[in-house]
Amino acid sequence: MNIPHRLYLTEDQMPRQWYNLRADMPCQPDPMLDPATLQPVTEEGLYLVFCEKLAHQELDGSTRYVDIPEEILEMYRIYRPSPLCRAYQLEKALDTPAHIYYKFEGNNTSGSHKLNSAIAQAYYAKEQGLSSLTTETGAGQWGTALAEACAHFGLDLTVFMVKVSYEQKPFRKAVMQTFGADVTVSPSPTTGAGRRILEKDPHTGGSLGCAISEAVERALATPGCRYVLGSVLNQVLLHQSIIGLEAKRAMDLLGEYPDVIIGCAGGGSNLGGLIAPYMRDKLTGAADPQIIAVEPASCPSLTRGRYAYDFCDTGRITPLARMYTLGSGFIPSPGHAGGLRYHGMSPILSRLYHDGFMSAVSAEQTRVFEAAVFFARQETILPAPESAHAIRAAMDEALRCRETGEAKTILFGLTGTGYFDMTAYTAFLEGKMADTVPTDEELQRGFDSLPEVPGRA
Ligand SMILES: Cc1ncc(COP(=O)(O)O)c(C=O)c1O
Repeated sequence: MNIPHRLYLTEDQMPRQWYNLRADMPCQPDPMLDPATLQPVTEEGLYLVFCEKLAHQELDGSTRYVDIPEEILEMYRIYRPSPLCRAYQLEKALDTPAHIYYKFEGNNTSGSHKLNSAIAQAYYAKEQGLSSLTTETGAGQWGTALAEACAHFGLDLTVFMVKVSYEQKPFRKAVMQTFGADVTVSPSPTTGAGRRILEKDPHTGGSLGCAISEAVERALATPGCRYVLGSVLNQVLLHQSIIGLEAKRAMDLLGEYPDVIIGCAGGGSNLGGLIAPYMRDKLTGAADPQIIAVEPASCPSLTRGRYAYDFCDTGRITPLARMYTLGSGFIPSPGHAGGLRYHGMSPILSRLYHDGFMSAVSAEQTRVFEAAVFFARQETILPAPESAHAIRAAMDEALRCRETGEAKTILFGLTGTGYFDMTAYTAFLEGKMADTVPTDEELQRGFDSLPEVPGRA
C-alpha cells in the first residue's frame, strides 16, 4: 500500500463520540476525596467549582461512549480531523527499518491539542448559562486554547499564567489578550493563595499547582463563574480521546497497527487521549501494544513519584486525587517544557501505570532539545518542547530498531508547535541549557507535603 506523508480523514470520518476509557478498566481510579471530610466527592459537591455537565463527566466511569454535541463538532471541524503523518524523512535520517507515525495536533492557532478540551469545557459552561471562567496555564497553550474557545462562545476568561512561562514567553500573553482573556502572572497578590505562596518565597517562579490554587479561589469568589482545568481530570482525557480515535481510524485505513505508542506526559491529557482506543484493545485482550509515557527528568512524577492521595494544587484547596505525585509542595526547576511541570498525573493514567498496562521513561531536557532540532530539520515542523519528549523516545525506539533490525511501527503524539519557545531553543543552540534532575532529598521534601489520608493507601 502506498502510504501518504499525511493522511487527513474527511469531516464525515471524524468521530462523533468521545471514548471513556474508564468503562473498560478492570480497576477504576480511586475516588476523588473532599479534603474537609476525606469522603468521596459527589457530583453535586463539584458543582461549586465545575459546571454541571463536566462534574458529571468527571465522575462517570461507566458510560463507554459520549455523544459530542453538534456545537462542539462544528468548532472541531475548523481544525479537525488533524493529520496522521508518516515521518519518512526522520526514518531516512535515522536509517531505521521502523515505521514512524505521528498524530499532529499543532495545526490550530492555540498550537496544541489543548483546544480539543477547551472547546468542550467552554461549550458546557455556556450551555449552563455561566458568564465567565478561570483557569491556569503553564506553557501558555492551554490558556490560548481556552481564550479562543471563550471568545467563540462569548464567555469572559481570567488566566493565571505561571511566572516562569510568562517571562519566557511574553507573546503568549499577547495572543491570549487578542482573544479577549485577562492574563495575571502567578503567583499574584490578587488571591489569598498567591499571597501566601509569595510570602513564603517572593522570588518563586511559580508552578501549575500554584496557578490552579489561584484560579479555583477566584472562581469560587465570582458569581456566574467556574474553574476549568486543561489536563489531569477524567473529563479532559475523555475530550482528548478524539486524538486516539482519529489516529486509530486513520491507521486502520492504512492497514497499520502500532507496536509502540508514545506520548509526553505532563498531567496526562494528550497521552490519555492518544492511547485511549489502543488501551481499550489492551484491556480487552484484542491487542498488546507497548505504551510509553515520557516525562521530564526534572519533574518525574511517574518514574520517581509516589502513588498516593494528594492535592491537585499547591495551595491545598482542591479535592484530593490518588495519583502518581511528587507532592503538591514540589516546585519543579524552571525547565523549558512548562506544560510538563506538574507535580501529579492523571488518576486514570496513574491507575493504568500502577496496574502495569503502560510504562514510563524520563528524559533530560538537552537530549529532548537535541531530538527537537533533529526532528525539525527532517520533518520541517518546529515541535513544542513538551512534544519533543515524545520525539526523543520515538527516536530512541527507532534507533534500537536499527540495532536489532526490527521494523516496528511506532506512533507518537506531536502535541504542538514551539514557535513561542524560541528562548529555550536559543539557550539550547547556544549551549547554555542545563539539565536539572532533583536529588532524592529534594524529592523527599515534596513527599513530606503529602497529606495524611487515614484508611486509604
Ligand atoms: C504542546 C503541549 N504538549 C503537551 C503538554 C502536556 O500536557 P498533557 O500531559 O496534559 O497533555 C502541554 C501542556 O501544556 C502542551 O502545551
